[in-house]
Amino acid sequence: MSAHAAPEPAARPKRVRVHHLAEAKARGEKITMLTAYDAVTARIFDAAGIDVLLVGDSIGNVMHGHTTTLPVTVDDMIPAARAVAGAAQRALVIVDLPFGSYEAGPEQALATAVRVMKSTGAAGVKLEGGRRSAAQIRALTDAGIPVVGHLGYTPQSENALGGPRVQGRGDDAAATLTEDAVAVQDAGAIAVVLEMVPLELAARVTEEVRIPTIGIGAGAATDGQVLVWTDMAGMTDWSPRFARRYAELGRVLQQAAEDYADEVRSGAFPDAGTSFER
Ligand code: KIV
Repeated sequence: MSAHAAPEPAARPKRVRVHHLAEAKARGEKITMLTAYDAVTARIFDAAGIDVLLVGDSIGNVMHGHTTTLPVTVDDMIPAARAVAGAAQRALVIVDLPFGSYEAGPEQALATAVRVMKSTGAAGVKLEGGRRSAAQIRALTDAGIPVVGHLGYTPQSENALGGPRVQGRGDDAAATLTEDAVAVQDAGAIAVVLEMVPLELAARVTEEVRIPTIGIGAGAATDGQVLVWTDMAGMTDWSPRFARRYAELGRVLQQAAEDYADEVRSGAFPDAGTSFER
């Protein structure tokens, strides 16, 4: 058995529901999460057995070519979320509430989340912030909308945080982040993402809260892991240090496009087998 062998999993649920995440934490089974922004990738990740598909507002950087997530709108998120939720047979689909769609208060957050839930078929939403977002999390939870929190490096606050930097270093910052995690839990969140947090702090928060922690750049002790799929699959030249590239799909795709172009130019494609006769 390898040093990284997972505990014997309980029978995998046919459809992942909110309570399965809590049960996974209780059993010490890791939760797997990947971003997805369309039906094609959602179908592939769902078939691979990924537990949670996150329609992240990273769609702004990854798919729309923005340098931050700040320009992303609810109108951007809805078609993506509808495609992912429509394609997923098993995975729990969570949708990010984008910057500017919930910070004004619980009423704004509820209006946005209700619109997202009604028009996409997703199972819940994610929003950033600890104590500052607790009232919003409570309002959504009270309305029956599952909420995932997001602490540590929160990309929607990248201007205030000075760019993508590790958060929670030092005793005071660690205490603040831990209090935020407890506030997110007490407001009713079903899980919390910890992004770019020292592994010792992520481990401590994971012990401290009852809800599952999902790490990204937060070490191995969290209850689950999430990656942006294009980082995980090697679609770009550069990936953040915390990501591991499990394939080099960008290179494979470029090679396929070059081969196609060569064959079109040489006349090798289309041929008799890919053409119709009268
Ligand atoms: O938008 C996103 O992809 C995210 C993950 C990085 C957690 O929030």
